[in-house]
Amino acid sequence: MSHLLEVKNLDVKFDTDEGRITAVENISLSVDQGEVLGIVGESGSGKSVTAKSIMKLNPGNTSYNEDAEIILDNENVLQFNSKQDLKKIRGGKVSMIFQEPMASFAPAIKIGAQMIEQLLIHKNINKEEAKSISINMLKRVGIADAEKTV
Ligand SMILES: Nc1ncnc2c1ncn2[C@@H]1O[C@H](COP(=O)(O)OP(=O)(O)OP(=O)(O)O)[C@@H](O)[C@H]1O
Ligand SMILES: [Mg+2]
Repeated sequence: MSHLLEVKNLDVKFDTDEGRITAVENISLSVDQGEVLGIVGESGSGKSVTAKSIMKLNPGNTSYNEDAEIILDNENVLQFNSKQDLKKIRGGKVSMIFQEPMASFAPAIKIGAQMIEQLLIHKNINKEEAKSISINMLKRVGIADAEKTV
C-alpha cells in the first residue's frame, strides 16, 4: 500500500550572494495514515525547509534535485508548477501551523473569515455552511464569541 506522504532523496539548495548552499541533503521519510512523525534537530538543520518543501513553499531562490520525489496521492508535488496545481494541496491535503503563527495570519482579516476562505476553496459547500463549520470549530477550541470572528 502506498504511504499517505513519502519524501524520497530530497536535497534543498538556496542560491545566495555567497553562492549555492545546501540546506537539506538526501532526506527520505514516509508517513502513513494515523501516524505522527516528529523531526528533531538543532536550529538551522533544515526542519522547516523540509516541511515547507511538501507544499513547495520555499522562496524563489530554492532549487530541488531532479531525482527527488514528494509523493502525495500518487503525484509528485515537486513536479507541480502552476498555482492551480499547488492550490489543490495547500490548505486542503496539507496544512501547516507555521513556526511563528502570530506572524502568519493576516492581522487585518478576521480569523473566521480566513477559515471560510480555505473551506470554500477545498470543499463543495456554500458560504453559510463554511461559516457554520468555522464558528463551530472555533467554539470547540474555546474561542469566546466565535460568531464575531467571521
Ligand atoms: N531562503 C533561504 N535562503 C538561504 N538560506 C535559507 C533560506 N531559508 C532557509 N535557509 C537556511 O537553511 C537552513 C535550514 O533552515 P531551517 O529554517 O529549515 O532550520 P530549522 O531546522 O527549522 O531551525 P529552527 O529549529 O531554528 O527552526 C538554515 O541555515 C537557514 O538559514
Ligand atoms: Mg524551523
